[in-house]
Parts: sequence; C-alpha cells; structure tokens
Amino acid sequence: MHGIIFLALEDFLESRSGKGAWARAMREANLVEQSFSPDRFYPDEGAADLFAASAKVLKLPMGETLEQLGCHMSPGLIEMGRSMGLIQPEWRTLDILERLNKDILSAFRTDGTGLKPPDIRTYRLKYGEIAAAYVSDRRLCQLFKGIVKGVGAFFNEPIRIEERVCMLESAPLCRMSIYLDDPALKNHVDITREFQTVHSRIQEIRFYNQFAGVAVVNQGLVLQYGPKGVLVQIQPESLLAMREEGGTYLALPHLHLGLKAAVAQVDMTQRTALLKQIVSTDGPIGRRILPRVVPVKPLPIELRIHKQTLRGWIANISESGLCIVLRADPILNETIIFTPLKVRFTLPVQTVDSEVTTASIPKIVLDGNILNIEEREGRHSIRIVFQPYAVNEAHQIQRYYRERETAAFQQLNALIALIK
Ligand code: HEM
Repeated sequence: MHGIIFLALEDFLESRSGKGAWARAMREANLVEQSFSPDRFYPDEGAADLFAASAKVLKLPMGETLEQLGCHMSPGLIEMGRSMGLIQPEWRTLDILERLNKDILSAFRTDGTGLKPPDIRTYRLKYGEIAAAYVSDRRLCQLFKGIVKGVGAFFNEPIRIEERVCMLESAPLCRMSIYLDDPALKNHVDITREFQTVHSRIQEIRFYNQFAGVAVVNQGLVLQYGPKGVLVQIQPESLLAMREEGGTYLALPHLHLGLKAAVAQVDMTQRTALLKQIVSTDGPIGRRILPRVVPVKPLPIELRIHKQTLRGWIANISESGLCIVLRADPILNETIIFTPLKVRFTLPVQTVDSEVTTASIPKIVLDGNILNIEEREGRHSIRIVFQPYAVNEAHQIQRYYRERETAAFQQLNALIALIK
C-alpha cells in the first residue's frame, strides 16, 4: 500500500478523534509507531490491520470507515494531482475518473515493490456516466466509493453510484456505474430563453439526424419561437431525415447540453420544421469524432470470449468500436466488463446497395474489450471498444462508412428531386 494512503489515514483519524487517535490505532494494530513517506510503498498486511484498528478507534463499521476516509482524502488527492500536472484545472469528477488509470495512478506505478497494484478501469459511456471496474487483492471498493463521493463534493457535483457486483460478495471484481446525478442543472436550462437568444442574435443551430443508418448534420435558423413550438429553417436533407425519424437532436451555441425535440410538422417548400416537446439531453451532443453507421440489413458477427464463440448482429459500428445484439447468454454478465475478446465480421463494401456478403471480401478480425452490457427482452446489447488495430482494417471500416454515406445521400437527393 502506498504511503499517501497511510498519511491520509493518520490525518483522517486525528481530525475525527483528536490528537492521539493515530497512536491508538497503531497500538491496536500491533504496529510500532513510525512515520510514513508519501513516495514509498509499505506491506499490505500492516495496512489491513490499521484499517481494522481505525474502525475500532472510530467505533464505525469497516466499510463506513473506508468510505469516510475516501471522502476525507479526496481534496488532498485532487490538489496533489493538480500540482503534479496529472489533473487539468478544468477537469471535474467524471473527467478525473475517466483518466484515473491511464494518466493518474500510472504515475505512481513502480516496479520492484513486490506489491500487486490495483487494477482500476474506467470508461466514459456518456457525458454523465462512467463504467468502472475495480480488481485488487486489497478489496478497497468502499474507499473507491468514498473517494468518488468526496471528489463529487469537492466540485459540488451530485454523484450517484450503482454497484452492480462486488468483490466483498465473492465476485471476481467490483463493477460500478457512476452517474452525474444532475437534474437540477437540467431544470435550470430555460429552453424558451435559449431559443429567444439564438433568434435575436440570428445564430445558427446545429441539427443531428440519421438517415439510412448514417449521420445527417446541418446548420439551421430559428424563425419563430413561442407556446406553439419552435419553427426552424433548415436544409432539405435534414428535413427529410427529421420527417423519417419524427424527431431531431440539436446543439445551440453556448448551451453545454444538447436538446432533443419531436418534429410536429415539416414543410418542404418553405424548408421549415415545427419542433415541439423540446427537452435537454444528458450531455452535449455532436462530440463524436468518429462517425457511427447502422447497417440497413443484418450483419452477422462472431464474438470469441473466454474460449467460447457467440454469434450475433452488428447494431452499429465506428472505427473505435461497435455495438452487438445477440441472444441472452449467461456468460454475458456484469463481471465480464473490460474483458479482452476477439470479434470477426465482414463489411460488405463492394456491394453497398444489396449488402450481400461475398466470399471475396476479407474478414475483419479485431481485439476489443466489453464496455457495457444491457439485457432487454431476452437479448443482450453489448458495447465493445477496439484495441489499436492495423491500417488495413481501419480502411475497410472507413470505406464501408463512406459507401453507406454516399448511398444514403443519393437516396436523399433523389427524394428531394421528386419533391421539386
Ligand atoms: C476519483 C478519483 C480517485 C479514485 C476513485 C481513487 C481510488 C483509489 C483506490 C480505491 C485506491 C486503492 C486501491 C487498492 O490498493 O486496491 C487508490 C490508490 C491510490 N490512489 Fe487513488 N483514486 C482517485 C484519485 C487519485 C488521485 C487524484 C491521486 C493522486 C494524484 C491518487 C493516487 C493514488 C495512489 C498513489 C494510490 C496507491 C496506489 C497503489 O497502492 O498502487 N488517486 N485510489
């Protein structure tokens, strides 16, 4: 265990139970009183005894002690991370969590300590959601939760943690979902006022839609806003996509959250759409760097995990990962998150229109990790992120996307020509 945890424990005990509490805990743990260094590792057995002794001194259950310790040490960790240049000033709770393993804890990893470092993995699934997995012989998940809550309190952000499986209940790992629980912020978005501002400044807003599985993104203007809805003017491609979807996503300049609206009416001759039921989304939109495509016809995929092969269909794919739908299988449970796997599939690039797989198209085989699993109506939906892979495979995915995009826009333009 790293010295900074011992130092934090000392500070925590003395601030809770007054001077002498640390010495009492050390005696209780049968340890000789010593000072700990913030840049050294110490044996784990001493740490476990000290945590138990601290719980006794504080007259609290062990879990509560660790959680409160975590909360107590968070501001110090943030300060330390900032002073070491590991945490950027603008980062908030989920930004820190997202980079915990790669950028923060890795800075403290030293070989030759004889201690097994914790395996903490986090992945940002949404603006307001992190998937986390924690594996450690020290089983300090309550400390983990305490630090997360303390970091949230430091930034004044309400955080909700759902623990799906736990090492303390014999699971091989702790799997948590961490949410930015922020309804107040959402409610503070005055949507009418936002449109009023955009209208008076004649600013353009961005519309995000899908057509035939590819993204259709265009700028548009607010013509009118009021109790009947918001009338916007926009390119015909977006109008057609909106009509097909019955809704749209929007990004207003300076608004940190995206918006979602139902499309009540589309007028192709005036190039307008009437938007209703406008609500904020749970994060900004339009930040996706790599475009995602939804196959129009089912694309089979093979998933090799824990020496088992499962078969399903690609729900969507980008250069960074994909989503697979497959029949529910007991192997797909919360403990499998972040597990390395292999996927094998074919993208029918040469025959876009018919999407017929031909034997001449090479199979794509990629390594990845499971990020998220959802079960609904007897099916599993799994999100997978690819490990870094070869240029050749990247080209195939890019080509598939471009061909699908060309086909979608040809279809849109043909529809527009018909209306004219
Ligand atoms: C949300 C933020 C954070 C969480 C949830 C978190 C969580 C944890 C947990 C649970 C442990 C104990 C793991 C174990 O031994 O099994 C740990 C260890 C540690 N943390 Fe953090 N931490 C956070 C931020 C930070 C920051 C900002 C720093 C320093 C800049 C830091 C430095 C360390 C160090 C040095 C250790 C000891 C590592 C080891 O024993 O290998 N942590 N952290």
